[in-house]
Amino acid sequence: MFVKNVWYIAAFDKEFEQPFVARRLLDVPVIMFRTSDGVLAALDDLCPHRLMPLSSGKRIDDELQCGYHGMKFSAEGHCTCVPGQANIPSAATVKTYPLVSRHGFAWIWMGDPSLASPDLIPDIHWHDSPDWACSDGYHHFNANYRLLNDNLLDLSHETYVHHRTIGNHEELSIANYPATVTTEADCIVRAHREMSNIEAPPFFAMVLQPKGLINRWQIAVNLVPSLNITVVGVYPVEEERASAFAAHVLHLLTPESETSTHYFWSFVRNYRLNEIELTNGIQKASAATFDEDKIIIERQQKEIDARGKQVPGVAIRVDEAPIRARRLLEQRLKAEQENPAYVVAPPTLVPEHSYAVL
Ligand SMILES: [Fe+2]
Repeated sequence: MFVKNVWYIAAFDKEFEQPFVARRLLDVPVIMFRTSDGVLAALDDLCPHRLMPLSSGKRIDDELQCGYHGMKFSAEGHCTCVPGQANIPSAATVKTYPLVSRHGFAWIWMGDPSLASPDLIPDIHWHDSPDWACSDGYHHFNANYRLLNDNLLDLSHETYVHHRTIGNHEELSIANYPATVTTEADCIVRAHREMSNIEAPPFFAMVLQPKGLINRWQIAVNLVPSLNITVVGVYPVEEERASAFAAHVLHLLTPESETSTHYFWSFVRNYRLNEIELTNGIQKASAATFDEDKIIIERQQKEIDARGKQVPGVAIRVDEAPIRARRLLEQRLKAEQENPAYVVAPPTLVPEHSYAVL
């Protein structure tokens, strides 16, 4: 069960320095490449002749050649050559998908191609904006994307899962600072939490080099079906909120299958932009943080599979945002089933007023 009429991240733009990228998306094996004209192409990764993945063949100029009988296919999915014969069977075509480059990513549309307007691509311009510095990476999770959404909307887990990186000590459990949860336009859930006069967790101590206590806010944003942003800000208690160090952590999830997820992430910050060492340090620390989530989330998926149960088995206060987001997701899946032309234009993900004190 996947939302189809929506743009998903299929790859980082920079991956197209390779001849092609092959990746299973929404349980469909897809092969993607950038033609010599700079146009992105996405095709089913399957030769219509004997069902060999095209990715097991090779790219020749702007065509893909099957590694079994040498048939060639264009970026538009048309067969251009069948070795040993002049005629090309009309059934020798490969399905294609809209694939668009924006904000440093390649976005794919797996639903009805006639609905694939680039205007529906969510605005995550921070990723390749000169006003922000970016540390990015990729994780593969053997878990359904809903479990990752749950995790990203409930940041109270930082205290227990991430005490070495972004969490606080247990006596200052993040769960003690209740989040204000709001829903917008039937497609966004936000959980906003303020923490004042706290010690900087190790990660923020590295980034900010604070001398004393800090004020911190965090807003978990979830756009149906699986785009998440953690908006974080910290500043020393004696300074102004306006001078805060802000970061947006983009968690861009694309289902690989019902039980696995591509996790493209990007930590963008608005301070110390040109410090490469800091950029690399954040990259490393973020990867280590998401490694910690991976252990928890994959373990949950294993238990769900083994026991045939769903989560949460018991709902507690911190589940409010994840439960609301799951509800919106189910509504969206249902709406798309009832109306295959159903699309939603994503509203602004991080409005200016997000930084204001609640
Ligand atoms: Fe986490």
